[in-house]
Amino acid sequence: MARSKTVYRCEECAGEAPQWAGRCPTCGAWNALVETSPTPRPTGPVIAGERSRAQPLGEVDPAEWSAQPTGVDELDRVLSGGLVPGSVTLIGGEPGIGKSTLVLQALASMADRAERVLYVSGEEAAQQVRLRAERLGALQPTLWFVAETRLDEVVRHIGEVGPSVVVVDSIQTLADAGVGSSAGSATQIRECAIHLVREAKQRGVAVVLVGHVTKEGELAGPRVLEHLVDTVLSFTGERHHALRLLRAVKHRFGSTDELGLFEMTEGGLMGLPDPSRLFLADRRPGVAGSVVVPTIEGHRPLLVELQALVTGDAPGSPRRSAQGLDPGRLAFLLAVLEQRVGVPLARTDVYALAVGGVRIVEPAADLALALAVASAQLDRPVPPDLVVLGEVGLGGELRQVAQTGRRLAEAARLGFSRALVPDSAPDGPAGIHLVRAPTVAVAVERATAITPEPVVLTE
Ligand code: TYD
Ligand code: MG
Repeated sequence: MARSKTVYRCEECAGEAPQWAGRCPTCGAWNALVETSPTPRPTGPVIAGERSRAQPLGEVDPAEWSAQPTGVDELDRVLSGGLVPGSVTLIGGEPGIGKSTLVLQALASMADRAERVLYVSGEEAAQQVRLRAERLGALQPTLWFVAETRLDEVVRHIGEVGPSVVVVDSIQTLADAGVGSSAGSATQIRECAIHLVREAKQRGVAVVLVGHVTKEGELAGPRVLEHLVDTVLSFTGERHHALRLLRAVKHRFGSTDELGLFEMTEGGLMGLPDPSRLFLADRRPGVAGSVVVPTIEGHRPLLVELQALVTGDAPGSPRRSAQGLDPGRLAFLLAVLEQRVGVPLARTDVYALAVGGVRIVEPAADLALALAVASAQLDRPVPPDLVVLGEVGLGGELRQVAQTGRRLAEAARLGFSRALVPDSAPDGPAGIHLVRAPTVAVAVERATAITPEPVVLTE
């Protein structure tokens, strides 16, 4: 296909324009367009220059795409098994969140199985990385390292070391000498990524790119990077809390539903196989405004405490704050409480949050959030051995939610003995008594009328 000889690419967003202009037509940045030659678009699994071959789908060898476990269980969970040879994975996260630690641990674990792996760092010197690797117990003989920021050198090392997995930490430090702009610019990031995607496909090596994101959660660089790679993982958490969450934003080889949970410790990142217990560890039973909901994250049930605080008497526009919750859903539930249950909220400030740094947006948590607010406003605690589950409709009616059985089994495992559920919910597992309600109004009445029983979280 014929393409024009030159294009103008924006240094800010990497958007292309056929002619120079003072302002980028894509993002509006001033004086950001630079002349450049057009780059061929990557062609997914097809290698440039090779002839493609059609065949019956049933004869395609599935093993060619089989994921290789990294051995870091929470990472493998999010990757639906592990890294696929020839694929490119981007791990984005704010500086200091633990990206380098995570990739180093994954490489060490693979090297532990005598796999040849290569760690390229443009951020830290060899001595620095060695010290960290020592602390993490990651000094395997097949874990190779090079401090490098030049793309052609990185490609040469991949050729010489011949690893099955290569990590580039970070994509922002890499530069292609053939590209006029400095490392970290949108054009450089894009060009380097395109080159590494090609390298990955040609050699069948799994490439992992580390990328810094800005405070706003955007990858510092072009969004277009997300389209070039097969998988985009997002590593988040609050710097001051030890909890770290890993999610797939995009995943060509599996679902994007899974959540990986880690704790940052002295000895590196530790997987959290039993997160519910951690999330409930600091709960103070018997306080009004606290309700526990059994949610489902990916394929696993997770018990999370929702808290609400209702305060003040401010005419006009009261404050509403939703941390780790959907503000729109909170507004909707406040309206239902006001209109269908008669809880006065129009003049009060409402603060609501999901404890532990997780984000709970599924409608299954509606009733729990509504009850937390009602309990806070009425100053009547919900019994500590009760979990609450159900979706709320505009009329204040309750609807059952998917996977009720698995959610309640997790609640029973952690020592909860009662569950408030919609009328239509299926029977729960043994060991948990169901309290049924048709509407939010009845649920509020029942939840605040049940005699509290001391709850002991099982060991
Ligand atoms: P790092 O992996 O360097 O973050 P990123 O690559 O995302 O910038 O880790 C950052 C923080 O993690 C650093 O402040 C120290 C802390 N940390 C630990 O608490 N324990 C450890 O074992 C390691 C390696 C780091
Ligand atoms: Mg780092």
